[in-house]
Amino acid sequence: MSAVIVVHGGAWAIPNDLAKASVDGVKAAACEGFAVLQKKGTALDAVESAVRALEDNAVFNAGHGATLNTEGEVEMDAIIMDGKTLACGAVSSVKNIANPVSLARAVMEKTDHVMLTDRGANLFAKTIGVDAVSSEKLVTNYERKEWEKHKNYVTGVKEDFNARWAHDTVGAVAVDYAGNVACATSTGGIRNKMVGRVGDCPAVGCGGYADNLCGAVSCTGHGESILKVTLARLILSHVEQGKSVEVASKISLKYMGERVRGAGGAIVVSPIGQWASTFTTERMAWAAVEKNVLYYGLEPNERRMERLS
Ligand code: GLY
Repeated sequence: MSAVIVVHGGAWAIPNDLAKASVDGVKAAACEGFAVLQKKGTALDAVESAVRALEDNAVFNAGHGATLNTEGEVEMDAIIMDGKTLACGAVSSVKNIANPVSLARAVMEKTDHVMLTDRGANLFAKTIGVDAVSSEKLVTNYERKEWEKHKNYVTGVKEDFNARWAHDTVGAVAVDYAGNVACATSTGGIRNKMVGRVGDCPAVGCGGYADNLCGAVSCTGHGESILKVTLARLILSHVEQGKSVEVASKISLKYMGERVRGAGGAIVVSPIGQWASTFTTERMAWAAVEKNVLYYGLEPNERRMERLS
């Protein structure tokens, strides 16, 4: 049984000036997550570690680098799920938190609930000793400028997923040496979203799902579309019907495009280590590590590889 990790840095029309940094960022995060697996860490630890690395990297729309809502504030969503027990934790509309994925994990492990939102999530963070960071620390100059330039949500959404101008979501899925799967997804959402808008990311079965019986998925793309088709669970339902993880992802993304005109991407891993990275946007930075080989790509059907030492 080999351990595998796959990560994505968001499906959207990544402009050329962010392309290299996006690919470098997902490669580094995948290696960080794989190092956890190599030390016999759990899939859950590996996905948290990989997503934290992506949240800390200002190139991506999660944690540091998150996009701004109509009022120019950061409101972030995250989910983490353990395929062994179906335990999951999520946070939505959180502010002043550097690593929402770890707060989601704390919700999973330290409360009786699955999701905490807004003020409640921040209050909980305080009670467990998670330091608040100032919003200014999370907002990049790049995002502030882009927000000023594109203060229109409808145009923004079209541009995000069909053309350019905004980032979208990070995520990771993994299977560990014991055959347990896990997923984690984290996002700042869509630029110029309404205050309080929550997308697919923290919704179980939409932004992510993990079940040792079929696999783990992390999704990215237009949140409202992903919510309408429960994309993560839809992909796994095709896997349950005997489709490969790649075919299941492609069928489900095609369905989302045809049924609700939504574009996006997904990474999937099965309990026996099969994996896939697919998207219907112009680009998606992704990386995977399996048996000391690093795979990565950005363009449709691009798959490069490097042997790790
Ligand atoms: N997929 C991220 C969002 O729509 O919020």
